[in-house]
Amino acid sequence: MGLDLDSATRRRLGYRLIDHIDAFFSSLSDRPVQLPVDQRTYGVLQDALPESGDDPAKVLDEICREMTDKGFNVPSANYFGLMNPTPTYMGVLAEALVAALNPQLATLARSQLASKIEIETVRWIGERVGWPGESNGTFTSGGNEANFSGLALALAAKFPDAIEHGIASIGAQPVAYASTESHHSLDKSAGLLGIGRKALRRIGVNASAQLDPDELEKAIAADLAAGRKPFCVIATAGTTNSGAVDDLVAISDICRHYDLWLHVDGAYGAAAIFSNKHRDLVHGIERADSLTIDPHKWLAVPFAAGVILTSHPKILERAFSVAAPYMPKAAGAMLPDNSRISTQWTRRMNSLKLWLTLRIHGRKAYEELIDRQLKLAASFAAWIRNSDFEIALPHPLPIVTFRLKAPELSEPEIAEAHNRIVDEVTRDGQRWISETIVNGRSVLRMMVISYLTEERHLEALQATLAQAARSVNAEIRSGEKKAVRL
Ligand SMILES: Cc1ncc(COP(=O)(O)O)c(C=O)c1O
Repeated sequence: MGLDLDSATRRRLGYRLIDHIDAFFSSLSDRPVQLPVDQRTYGVLQDALPESGDDPAKVLDEICREMTDKGFNVPSANYFGLMNPTPTYMGVLAEALVAALNPQLATLARSQLASKIEIETVRWIGERVGWPGESNGTFTSGGNEANFSGLALALAAKFPDAIEHGIASIGAQPVAYASTESHHSLDKSAGLLGIGRKALRRIGVNASAQLDPDELEKAIAADLAAGRKPFCVIATAGTTNSGAVDDLVAISDICRHYDLWLHVDGAYGAAAIFSNKHRDLVHGIERADSLTIDPHKWLAVPFAAGVILTSHPKILERAFSVAAPYMPKAAGAMLPDNSRISTQWTRRMNSLKLWLTLRIHGRKAYEELIDRQLKLAASFAAWIRNSDFEIALPHPLPIVTFRLKAPELSEPEIAEAHNRIVDEVTRDGQRWISETIVNGRSVLRMMVISYLTEERHLEALQATLAQAARSVNAEIRSGEKKAVRL
């Protein structure tokens, strides 16, 4: 069989796939997140490379069944997890259309409408940021690439010669700053951009896990005194661990005073700009020189969709543009080719899933989602306050961190107890929460991320948590403490 399929087969397979996807979507409110622990396997698949094909309907049915039954179902309403959403159905359809049309976003000449839709979607986000002047940006593969791009923009803005002549031409060590709670992808970017991971200073945080502006200012002053070249601060709007939002106004004041680029990593939390009611959660975001926002987090579109935006559009070209005579030119084009303003070259149309979701549901659907998820998180936090747990950190966004009330346990013992609780809660595969470390202390972490999550899902989680706390506490009290102690 060649690669072509006739129309009747295409339709038959397409309808079949839509039926599978529909059944999956219909099951998500009650679908377990994963298999029970004794059925999970992590080994490699051993099938040989297929030399010739097989019956498509059979293979399609098989892979749909296997992936839903044996997969880790991030879109389940019972996934209280990391920042991975239930994708909007319009986003799923947009992905199918993009795969079929395969627009090439590298140049305007080959993707007029697709490029315009992307530019329009970026403009919609830029307008919600509230920048007073012009802005532009591009879709990325996610927050990692967007943060990388933000740091590249900061370097290009502050050290334009470094683009041609390299970091060495700066003549002193360039230094960037981010909090100890900001995302690890920034370390990767600092290494890859050649400034070095150690030149990304990790600034301490306050009791709310926000970057400490006083410590930031001291670090900048120390670097300047040592002859180094501070150039960028990365503030976070919605940290991965606890959803903390740095004081963007205070940090921006420091950046303005020292002439530093302010990049805001709002991969998750920047979505609050889509809510009139809650946009103050990211107060000061319009002071950013560049911004990361991931529609594949709070805006609930399928992976992959990040966005890098900047209020200095010309710097995009300075950082990313290279001449390539073979690339087709669009006569009379007023906009730069995407390949000239992005780290990527050939580029998929990652914008359509957000554009279509907004066209079908409107901004107000996000406003409603944000409001509802904040209320659900608040109700969960209220339960925590009357349980065997205590709230660990403030929860400005729908991420609640909490700890077992066990003052007699040491920090390593608490961490061990938390891991036991996570094991208990996730053992049957029905639901998923996690444990993490914030500011050196172990916390349990619950995030409302699926637009399908309702109060009843939280109630079931609370019952499981209460049971897990009882059994871990009983172990501790009954002298089986050794099992808990490290
Ligand atoms: C605050 C923050 N920034 C950046 C990233 C990296 O984003 P991505 O995984 O989309 O590359 C994450 C991932 O969770 C994040 O939480």
